[in-house]
Amino acid sequence: MSERIAVYPGSFDPVTYGHLDIVDRSAAIFDRVLVGVLENPGKTPLFTVDERVEMIRACLGDRPRIEVTTFRGLTVDFAANSGASAIVRGLRVISDFETEFQMALMNRRLNPAVNTVFLMTSFSNVFISSSLIKEVCHLGGNVTEMAPPVSVEAMQRRFAELRERDG
Ligand code: PNS
Repeated sequence: MSERIAVYPGSFDPVTYGHLDIVDRSAAIFDRVLVGVLENPGKTPLFTVDERVEMIRACLGDRPRIEVTTFRGLTVDFAANSGASAIVRGLRVISDFETEFQMALMNRRLNPAVNTVFLMTSFSNVFISSSLIKEVCHLGGNVTEMAPPVSVEAMQRRFAELRERDG
C-alpha cells in the first residue's frame, strides 16, 4: 500500500505546544508528516523561516516519519508536490472554524484530490495561539506552559534585542 502523507502548513511564529500536539496526532494517523513553514513575504514575522524551522526541529528531535520544511505559494501545491493526500489543520476554538472551513473549501476547489483533515488540540491547548503568546511574552508574562523552552527563550531574546534596538 502506498504511503499516506500529510502536510501540516502554518506560520509557526513561533511553534507552540498546540502545534506540537497536532504534529503528534497527525503522526498517529499518517505514515509521513511534512510540517511546512510558510515563507510569506507579505507578513512580518518575529522569526525568520529558518529560525522557525530550526525551533520546530529542535522540539521534534529525530523523528523519522516527520520532516520540517519551508514552502512558498499555495498550500495545495506544496501538498501535491510532496505527494500528500491531506492538509492537516488544528482546530482550537469555535472561532477558528469559519476561517478554516473557508480555507478548506478553497483548497478543495483548487485541488479536489487533496483533503483537509481537522484535528482537535488537547483541552489544555485550546486557548494557545502564537500571536497571544508573543503578546504575553513581550509584556513579561509567563508562557512556559504554552510554548516549549526553545520558543520561550527565542522570544525573550528577540524581544530584548528589539528593546535594545528601539531604545
Ligand atoms: O499558521 P497560520 O498562519 O494559521 O497558517 C495559515 C496558512 C499558512 C495555512 C495559510 O495562510 C496558507 O495556506 N497559506 C498559503 C497560501 C495559500 O495556499 N492560500 C490559499 C489558502 S485557502
